[in-house]
Amino acid sequence: MVTKGIFPVPKPAAEPTAANTPAIDAFDATAVSIATPHAPSRLALSEMAPGVMQSEIRAMSVECDRIGGINLAQGVCDTPVPQVVEEAAIAAIREGYNIYTRLDGIGRLRTAIAAKQQRDYSLDYDPETEVLVTSGATAGLHAAAMALLNPGDEVLLFEPFYGYHVATLNSLRIKPVLVPLAEPDWALDTDALEAAITARTRAIILNTPANPSGKVFSQAEIEYLSAVCRDHDLFLITDEIYEYFVYDGAKHIAPATLPGMRERTIVISGFSKTFSITGWRIGYVTAAAKWMGAIAYFHDLTYVCAPSALQHGVAAGLEQLPSSFYSQIATDHQSKRERMLAALRDAGMDPGVPAGAYYALARVDHLPGDTAAQKARHLLAKTGVAAVAGSAFFRPGRGENLLRFCFAKKDHELDDACARLRRL
Ligand SMILES: Cc1ncc(COP(=O)(O)O)c(C=O)c1O
Repeated sequence: MVTKGIFPVPKPAAEPTAANTPAIDAFDATAVSIATPHAPSRLALSEMAPGVMQSEIRAMSVECDRIGGINLAQGVCDTPVPQVVEEAAIAAIREGYNIYTRLDGIGRLRTAIAAKQQRDYSLDYDPETEVLVTSGATAGLHAAAMALLNPGDEVLLFEPFYGYHVATLNSLRIKPVLVPLAEPDWALDTDALEAAITARTRAIILNTPANPSGKVFSQAEIEYLSAVCRDHDLFLITDEIYEYFVYDGAKHIAPATLPGMRERTIVISGFSKTFSITGWRIGYVTAAAKWMGAIAYFHDLTYVCAPSALQHGVAAGLEQLPSSFYSQIATDHQSKRERMLAALRDAGMDPGVPAGAYYALARVDHLPGDTAAQKARHLLAKTGVAAVAGSAFFRPGRGENLLRFCFAKKDHELDDACARLRRL
């Protein structure tokens, strides 16, 4: 390279020859050709990009907005934000908490998260070294995967899965290995799990309570999974974002509480659902200090910090809301679940009964359409209610007779959606 002044000046490009032309055949549909129509350009999407599709959930939300329908597709949770959370965030903006925070979050919130883990599960995390405030649970998983896993590693996930878990791994060239849960009640199939483990397996991602199945993994199942992690020396990455959304007396078991699991469990959770603040982007990771430095490094690299003033709002909520606030979440959503399930049954769909989270997966074999996506679009056109195609949560070919309905909606909207479904 010839240099002139301070800018490196590239040598004139050589005429394209077979030897210096990059091979782009695999991606010729997306390769961008500029200027000289017949010379292939090196401007192209990345190897992974052609596989990236707009998520089916967002696609349904867009379509729903277009026709002014009721969106039971996205888990947006539009129930009211607790007043203390809202007011403390507004006050924090006015008080000038508008600049970057420490990369792992404000001390007040880290302390409150550590206290919450202690209160709920008797888990002891040092707020200085073992708690990371993240830009939502989503960023927590991304940072943890970058810090702990390598391209080519295999990670086990249960199917039906939450799409972002799979997409996050794919985006880092980590291989998601799907372990099907057994229908009809999504029981843990231990043979399928053992069969999926190879020498490349590094971790299991466990979402409990689970989206979309509503499964709450039992104590016995989590003991079994913990034993598998210990025997095969695996990380257990948990997504516990629905920890308070449990019904019919079901109890959320925090896997890090099991013997020998605190050191290998990376707990990921957040406040999007608990405080109905999906747009605020505040979540957290709690894990042993030896993993946390690298996780915090990668979170900083992409997000720098979680929104400063909003961290204060969440901290105030954790500090001031009574334990009845958390039990009320379960009571309120159990009642929403009942209304949703009754309407789905009346509409001739056959919903599973979720023990946790806030989604119902319903069988819709009778709806017109060859695929779940077509059935979802038919339902939206006919009733104005958006649901997500079940295929979004399974490997190709599965989930085509299922739709997922989110029931974390304001009561009047949920009732309106239920009335529309009954008219189907
Ligand atoms: C299982 C699961 N994890 C994480 C998230 C997103 O969490 P956050 O908003 O904290 O990124 C969702 C949202 O639907 C979810 O269902």
